Amino acid sequence: MKSKLVLGIETSCDETGVALYDTIEGLKGHKLYSQIKLHAQYGGVVPELASRDHIKKLLRLIKELIDENDININSIDSIAYTKGPGLSGALLVGTTVANALGYSLKKPVISVHHLEAHLLSPLLSNPNIKFPFVALLVSGGHTQLVRVEGIGRYHLLGDTRDDAAGEAFDKTAKILGLPYPGGALLSELARDGDASKYPLPKPMIHSGDLDFSFSGLKTAVANLVHKIGSKKVTASKTLKADIAASFQNAVTDVLTEKCCRALFKEDIKSLVIAGGVGANAELRRKVNQQAKKTGFEVHYPPLEFCTDNGAMVALVGGLKTNEGVYGAKPFDIKPRWPLSA
Ligand code: KG4
Ligand code: ZN
Repeated sequence: MKSKLVLGIETSCDETGVALYDTIEGLKGHKLYSQIKLHAQYGGVVPELASRDHIKKLLRLIKELIDENDININSIDSIAYTKGPGLSGALLVGTTVANALGYSLKKPVISVHHLEAHLLSPLLSNPNIKFPFVALLVSGGHTQLVRVEGIGRYHLLGDTRDDAAGEAFDKTAKILGLPYPGGALLSELARDGDASKYPLPKPMIHSGDLDFSFSGLKTAVANLVHKIGSKKVTASKTLKADIAASFQNAVTDVLTEKCCRALFKEDIKSLVIAGGVGANAELRRKVNQQAKKTGFEVHYPPLEFCTDNGAMVALVGGLKTNEGVYGAKPFDIKPRWPLSA
């Protein structure tokens, strides 16, 4: 099969990501611009600012990517962009640029599901992962367990009933006085903390199903901080570290237990963990321990591709190019878009 070069564009939230993926040689290069600093002052993503910033950065990033890889833009065979789920204004920037480039270069355009891109992202470093596998998608907006039969064949096994795991990390970080988005900072703090100091609830850990709920845990942390005294907590590195470690311990215990249950229920011995929270070292430690104990394989994307990026979008574009799936239409976005029925 002749190799095809795909340009991937990610603009679903607060990261502008672009990448070049060769269907035979794999990832050729990628560039990422994070808007974190822009939104931190507001304590969360401001959709209008996100869209405007994508407009400012996207074309510049594509030009840098093309120049750094020393290719002519005409050698791109197809263009893939994130169609959803995500912020509508931000998604519109991606679809507009992708379709305008496709029109001017006379190249096909492919629309990509953001969660599909996350759950296939481990293929960037290991193209030999075999189907079926169970995927845990843990990001700022989603916490799902999915049975992956093959490309495009996804069955939802479990979902969160309220907050996503990343959202719970970010809200808890905020309670501890950390800047947005606090997930990674909270997990750094937790490294120096005592995880057994504060026994926090592990919601739905024994519910028997594969669903999650994290808002009660976040409220339990808020109540604990209120009881100790908010000022006292934010002023003490030890208190913050102990609370962070106790919170992280509860979340990672639940996520690990549900992954094991999903593998057992589905009779599958291969697990993929993807999405921003998949970068969490404690989660990886616990899942790896269980994998060794009970004998299943676990695959993660490279750390830099756990959070949003263009490489995973270009990868899915490449997989769809191989299957001949083209035909995205201009302005085709889907801000709300379930991965499977
Ligand atoms: O996948 P992602 O970049 O964006 C969405 O599609 O939502 O995930 C971002 C989420 C944020 O909530 C962030 O706080 C969380 O992933 N996150 C982490 C870590 N790194 C990022 N949460 C826990 N531990 C980490 N090391
Ligand atoms: Zn994401």
